[in-house]
Amino acid sequence: MEGSNVFGVVLAGGIGTRMGNVEKPKQFMEIGGKPIIIHTIEKFVMNPEFEKILVLSPKQWIKHTEDLIRKYIPQAANVVVISGGSTRNETIMNSISYIEEQGRLNEDTIIVTHDSVRPFVTHRILEENIRFAKEFGACDTVIPATDTIVESKDNTMISQIPDRKTMYQGQTPQSFKAMHLRELYNGLTDEEKTILTDACKILVIKGEKVHLVEGEESNIKITYPYDLRVAESLLQE
Ligand code: CTP
Repeated sequence: MEGSNVFGVVLAGGIGTRMGNVEKPKQFMEIGGKPIIIHTIEKFVMNPEFEKILVLSPKQWIKHTEDLIRKYIPQAANVVVISGGSTRNETIMNSISYIEEQGRLNEDTIIVTHDSVRPFVTHRILEENIRFAKEFGACDTVIPATDTIVESKDNTMISQIPDRKTMYQGQTPQSFKAMHLRELYNGLTDEEKTILTDACKILVIKGEKVHLVEGEESNIKITYPYDLRVAESLLQE
C-alpha cells in the first residue's frame, strides 16, 4: 500500500506530575467538555497528509485512550494507540519502532511529534512542520522569547543574560526524518540520553541543522492547574 510516509506522533506517555494529585494524567482531563488529548488528535485528523496518527499513551491508559477516540472521533480510521516509553524520547522511539514493524520505515519517513497537551496547535503549524521536515530533515516550532532569559548555573546568582533577540521558547511539533533521528539517538551514551530531554537537542549536539517553524502564542502546553483556566478561556475565543 502506498502512503504519504508522513506520520503524526501524539505524545501522551506522561503522567503529568506537575498537574498535582488528579485521578488521571492531564491529557485525559477535559477542557470545553472534551478531553485535552481529543482536541489535539482532532487537529491531526483534519490534515489529510498524515498516513497514520500514532497516539502513545501509558500502557495502563491505552484502552481508555482507544475508548475516547471511538467516542469522540469515530470517523477517524487512521488513528492507532500504542504504548509510550519511560521518557519522552523513548516514547518517540516507540513510534519509530511501530512504523518499522508495519514495514513503512525508510529514509524519507517523516514524524511530526507533538505534545498531547498542546491542543491549540494550528493547521498552518502542522503544514509548515511537514514541509520543513521534508526540505531540511528536522524542524522545531518556537516563538520569540517575550521575557528576558536569565541564566543561573548555581540557581542562586546570574551567570549570564543572553541577548533576547536571539532567544526563542520551544513549543511543539518537532518534526524529523525518523530513521536519522533514531540513528543519532542510538549513538548517545546513557548519560547523554538522560540529559537530552528535548528531541531537537539530539541533532543540535551533533552539530546538525534544525530549521525553525514560527509557533503561536496560543499554542500553550498544559502543565499546571493554572493552564487549564487559560485553556478554557482560549476556547471561548
Ligand atoms: N510524554 C510522553 N512520554 C513520557 C513523558 C512525557 O509521551 N515518558 C509526553 C507527555 O504526555 C506530554 C508531553 O510529553 O504530552 C510533554 O511533557 P510534560 O508536559 O512534561 O508531561 P508529563 O511528563 O506528563 O508532565 P510532568 O513533567 O508534570 O510529569
